[in-house]
Amino acid sequence: MTQPSILVARAIFPEVLQSLAQVFEVQSNQADEVWSAAELTRRMQGKVGALTTGSERIDAALLQANPQLRIVANMAVGYNNFDVPAMTAAGVQASNTPDVLTETTADFGFALLMATARRVSESEHYLRAGLWQKWSYDMFAGAEVHGATLGIIGMGRIGQGIARRGAHGFGMNVIYHNRSRLSAELEADCKARYVSKQELLQSADHVVLVLPYSAQAHHTIGAAELAQMKPTATLVNIARGGIVDDAALAKALAARQIAAAGIDVFEGEPSVHPDLLKVPNVVLTPHIASSTVKTRMAMAQLAADNLVAYLTRGQALTPLNTVPGHAA
Ligand code: DGY
Repeated sequence: MTQPSILVARAIFPEVLQSLAQVFEVQSNQADEVWSAAELTRRMQGKVGALTTGSERIDAALLQANPQLRIVANMAVGYNNFDVPAMTAAGVQASNTPDVLTETTADFGFALLMATARRVSESEHYLRAGLWQKWSYDMFAGAEVHGATLGIIGMGRIGQGIARRGAHGFGMNVIYHNRSRLSAELEADCKARYVSKQELLQSADHVVLVLPYSAQAHHTIGAAELAQMKPTATLVNIARGGIVDDAALAKALAARQIAAAGIDVFEGEPSVHPDLLKVPNVVLTPHIASSTVKTRMAMAQLAADNLVAYLTRGQALTPLNTVPGHAA
């Protein structure tokens, strides 16, 4: 019996690829080329399943050109590269990789907050440039982290992880804003208080963005929001490019309207707004918040397990939509 054909659209751990090859006929992309939409559509031909990352867009046009497709498993918790309603309408299962990256991503959010507040990148660049001649009382004096007010926008699993780190580890006063308020138990666990977006922006010393991207969330932080923040405040974005208006942020940083920012995700990444590259008071990282070996392996394995579970048993492990089960 011939095995079902799947596409692994980007390079992944060879051992995960090998495990998929036990079950499927696999077309892989270990050269890790980022395909155009047309090329991705072409490579999907004849495939019943695909493993994607955030850089592959699954939309109505691709689905229409590939009516044989049954499941696309994203190796990411975020899935703004999927048109989920179009996938549901086409009877295609969508899945993501929640939970396995929560704590790792929260660690990184906190690391970026600390690097930003304590000016780690800026001072390292100074040292590497050979500019350090003497100790001085205000050299790279940054913002306090312990005991400060931490404002989190987007209080899902990762936001809660950051809240717990701030409240329990650093004695921070945690406030949050979210589409819906958490239960009293979760608020108590995170020691977090629900506030309006305006109150959060005006009173937080450190604002961390962890909300999913959607059209409504586009430019959640733009010029108007940056103007509401304290001039001593820092901003961290580990959510998605487009949540922050990067041009407005670069302007605010250059004008010292806010003290500093830590940015892991960018509008139009991997391109970075050129003005962000010019300002010193920003820590820039290339979308690596979930990137530890253990977590990236767990994400790849969960995406692979979703393909196997759906195509052999008709049930994905972490589905994003409801479609009739399909055993290949
Ligand atoms: C995610 O899981 O959504 C991360 O941003 C990695 O893409």
